[in-house]
Amino acid sequence: MLNSNSLEWAKNKDISDPLSKFRQEFVFPKEDGQDVLYFAGHSLGLMPKRTKAAIQSELDAWGEYGVEAHFKSKIPWVNYHEVVTASFARLVGAKESEVVAMNSLTVNLHLMMTSFYTPKEKRTKILIESNTFPSDKYAVDSQARFHGLNPQDTVVELKHAPGADSINDDFIISEIKRLGDSLELVLIGQCNYLSGQKFNMAKIAEAAHSVGAKVGFNLAHGAGNLAMNLHDDDVDFAVWCSYKYLNSGAGGIAGCFVHEKHHAAAKNPKDFTSMKRFEGWWGHNKTERFKMGPNFNPISSVEAWQLSNPPIFQLAALKASLELFDEMGIKNARKRGDELTSYFEMMIKENLGTHVTVVTPASRGSMLCLKVTSRHQEFKNHLMNNHAIVDFREPNIIRATPTAMYNSFTDVYQLVQIMKSFFNGK
Ligand SMILES: Cc1ncc(COP(=O)(O)O)c(C=O)c1O
Repeated sequence: MLNSNSLEWAKNKDISDPLSKFRQEFVFPKEDGQDVLYFAGHSLGLMPKRTKAAIQSELDAWGEYGVEAHFKSKIPWVNYHEVVTASFARLVGAKESEVVAMNSLTVNLHLMMTSFYTPKEKRTKILIESNTFPSDKYAVDSQARFHGLNPQDTVVELKHAPGADSINDDFIISEIKRLGDSLELVLIGQCNYLSGQKFNMAKIAEAAHSVGAKVGFNLAHGAGNLAMNLHDDDVDFAVWCSYKYLNSGAGGIAGCFVHEKHHAAAKNPKDFTSMKRFEGWWGHNKTERFKMGPNFNPISSVEAWQLSNPPIFQLAALKASLELFDEMGIKNARKRGDELTSYFEMMIKENLGTHVTVVTPASRGSMLCLKVTSRHQEFKNHLMNNHAIVDFREPNIIRATPTAMYNSFTDVYQLVQIMKSFFNGK
């Protein structure tokens, strides 16, 4: 039997896994005439080959029909956002009426907090992770200030236990219970952007609801990476970007989930006690939208949260990419992702000794967060000089992801050999 710590094993594994075929759907950047080792799919996913044709087709429709493309294009632009709905629903475990592609992630986060963060009397607090992505912290701080509250008294961070790199799910639950009726919103990244830790959505949602709070998840690092069940787990809202694991291109159109139990709550804009929402014409009843009436009549689904007509070229790119997820299936993607990441972890432990340690716990997606114990800057240069693309966070963190969709076991093997050669002085 072959030793798994060998190039032959990795190559055989790639040949025998039927899901390896998805790799050829992607364009790999080249350096010095060779494909780079790309491990940055948690930051910006690679371009699917079919994306160019998908965007070109909408450019052609624009050229051929001008404004009439809204109705005459093969996929009429007026309904174009609907072509990604079923795929989004499958990816995040939702009903189609609960998901929509719109705006960008931070914009959607603010729109969701407009509806789900409505502090009153003593119920004001927002619970977030301590190492949350900075934009999420800026967003919650600004929401507190928007409501006339001091973020320092309002935003509660889930501190790590001394020396720990991850946060225990039970600790999150105990913090929720401790905050009790002062807690208005729990906002958690799924996975955490830095450590790669995956949290238990159902348990967190249940605990938040048990104290009367609402719960939202930022799926920036979860969508296309993890399988999930937003509807069954009773999550109130979720937002995600599509340019990481979903490969829709930089700044691509984002996603949003609102549980169906909330759709009616915001339905009557004249009822000032109902849920608040910012509104725009794309959320208006589709059959009447072009009658241009002065009063908002919301669509009875999450689509009511839409503001503007969506960017068609971004949707075309997303549609092309989601076709691949539909072909692969998110559960298969996760299974392959687990195998690749476990292989990566095993190879690091066997080959890099104490030079590099794995921070990410076993509850995770595809990304590993690694700590380099010395000569960080030289190590970074070494990887870059050897055409390996990972990402670095000061002072000594590396995030590297073997994505299920396009990375191979051979990629993992090669990346670890490059890392090893640095410490062996080659
Ligand atoms: C966890 C998380 N939140 C928020 C953002 C910001 O996303 P956007 O610039 O698309 O609003 C990112 C981007 O990488 C992220 O990873």
